[in-house]
Amino acid sequence: MWYFVVPEVVFGQDALTRLAELQGKSAFIVTDKNIVSLGFVDKVKEQLSQAGIKSNVFDEVEPDPSLQTVKKGVALMNQYGPDLVVAVGGGSVMDAAKAMRVEYERPDLKAEEINPFISDLGLGAKCKLVCIPTTSGTGAEATFAIVLTDTDDQRKLSLINREIATDIAIVDPALAAAMPAGLTSSTGMDVLTHAVEAFSCTWKNDFTDGLCIRAIQLVFEYLPRAVKDGQDMEAREKMHNAATIAGIGFTNSLTAMAHATGHSLGAVFHVPHGRAVGLLLPYTIEFVGDIREDIWAEISYALKLNIPKGEKAGLVLARAIRGLANSIKEPLSLKELGIPVDKLDSSMDKLIDNAMADGSLIVSARVPSVAETEKFLRYAYEGKSIDF
Ligand SMILES: [Fe+2]
Repeated sequence: MWYFVVPEVVFGQDALTRLAELQGKSAFIVTDKNIVSLGFVDKVKEQLSQAGIKSNVFDEVEPDPSLQTVKKGVALMNQYGPDLVVAVGGGSVMDAAKAMRVEYERPDLKAEEINPFISDLGLGAKCKLVCIPTTSGTGAEATFAIVLTDTDDQRKLSLINREIATDIAIVDPALAAAMPAGLTSSTGMDVLTHAVEAFSCTWKNDFTDGLCIRAIQLVFEYLPRAVKDGQDMEAREKMHNAATIAGIGFTNSLTAMAHATGHSLGAVFHVPHGRAVGLLLPYTIEFVGDIREDIWAEISYALKLNIPKGEKAGLVLARAIRGLANSIKEPLSLKELGIPVDKLDSSMDKLIDNAMADGSLIVSARVPSVAETEKFLRYAYEGKSIDF
């Protein structure tokens, strides 16, 4: 028995006008200062006011949001008493809003206590959650996971429960059009990695497979266009859709080794998430290799890649992903990220420990040993295809 959880998704041009149809009295808008300065929060307030809903804005969410920021937001929510939480931003903003909503609705449950085994959370009785992504990457508008940092304890919290999912995801491409090229390319590689990993990990399933394949096709076709011309609204729309589609895909399946090692790389060297996982994706495909040859062939077929006779689909696919990354100026090796080799050496134990402890690793179709993880990272440093 398993579950497939998906929010109401409103997508396409003017999707934001869905806000004007909402029922409620008071909205708590969760965002960051950059999104406010781009004018997106004013647009959201304008739509809500058409529905007779007044707004209060909390714009203090930082990248890698802290538990402490969540507590601050909850205190304000308790003061305002909203019946709507509207998150406008990237993954950090949406994750913070998801956590705030849980604690606001369930004061008896601390955000840090959220886990997959609690049932009947009873969310939605006091307020609804609307997520409006402004990047095309994390898929946080569709996921039922939250990543927070406890700054007091210096630790990351991964909180999962299928009941914390968004009620409505508004996927309006106009809000993604402000992303600069570098953010477009790195977040786009995150989308691709979600889709490929959810399609190839051991938790892949019939409900997510089709979504993942479509997301992979959309990234290959539209990401180079969105990076090249940020005002190419067709490409923006397709990438925005792809991010949510892949988000639904991986939250109902899982991500695997590229995410386990990418999270580790991000934590140690502060590499943007999408850049780290995207860089490691082709190496991951090579490492998993023959165990998933049928899956790599299926993806290659969907991408109309030519597989020369006698060649493995996994290698063809890894090469195609490197070609895509190269075309949008994403790095192909850890060396290209500018990490000095002595820093890699001195951080290796930490990199391996983090990766081995990451929940994503257990669903890899081939789980690496400690020695293999080190070798994997050294190959990825040099830009050498995995041959073990
Ligand atoms: Fe990701």
